[in-house]
Amino acid sequence: MQVHLYDTAEQVGQAAAILIGAQLLEKPSSVLGLATGSSPIPTYRELIRLHRAGVLDFSSAITFNLDEYCRISEEHPCSYHRFMKDELFDHINLKPENAHMPDGNAADLSAECARYDRAIARAGGIDLQLLGIGRNGHIGFNEPSDQFVYGCHVVRLTQSTIEANRRFFDSEADVPREAVSLGIGSIMNARRVLLVATGADKAEAVRKAICEDIDPDTQASILRTHPSAVFLLDRAAAARL
Ligand code: GLP
Repeated sequence: MQVHLYDTAEQVGQAAAILIGAQLLEKPSSVLGLATGSSPIPTYRELIRLHRAGVLDFSSAITFNLDEYCRISEEHPCSYHRFMKDELFDHINLKPENAHMPDGNAADLSAECARYDRAIARAGGIDLQLLGIGRNGHIGFNEPSDQFVYGCHVVRLTQSTIEANRRFFDSEADVPREAVSLGIGSIMNARRVLLVATGADKAEAVRKAICEDIDPDTQASILRTHPSAVFLLDRAAAARL
């Protein structure tokens, strides 16, 4: 595992965009695993800038997002569908049919999870997976647990995640209680994993992920066993290492 430290969240975003851009230049039809949350926003800004500057072309790329809330409309301002359009998809030349996201409104969510895993496998697997990290060490929506779940699955969000994500919603009662998330197996099967973490409120999760035993109570700790994992951290997120 590689760890790179930067002074600011913007630098973390630039470094992540360089690695994603290099992946795309090497293989224009790359399968990219994408994340939501505030952490990847500087990365997406830099990717958009590089696209507008004529440096990066997404026309052959394929993307799969990590997760989506259950039972909120795709057009809801807090849905991850909306987030991805606003923060990335509407500003690059990715073909809409190549941008995949789990459907948290599917009537049969287990069937939807199986379909999503199959779609990733059919695309040839994920070349590069971008990840944030939750304050409780979650990746995607793989919450602290006594096990690592392999495949895409429906997750019941923990109270700490509901509280952390409450800031995007009108009230805590509006935060969905469930989400569909890629499993740890699908994340670990990515050929490369890139985790971005910024800000002091991530310092404890980053410390546990990097310095303590590999433990499903800190789901990100499993990334230490990945053959090509890169952590890009700002000073605040790295403060307890
Ligand atoms: C959500 C997402 C995660 C993300 C995490 C951290 O729970 N499901 O993929 O990593 O939030 O979000 P933020 O980057 O806003 O702190």
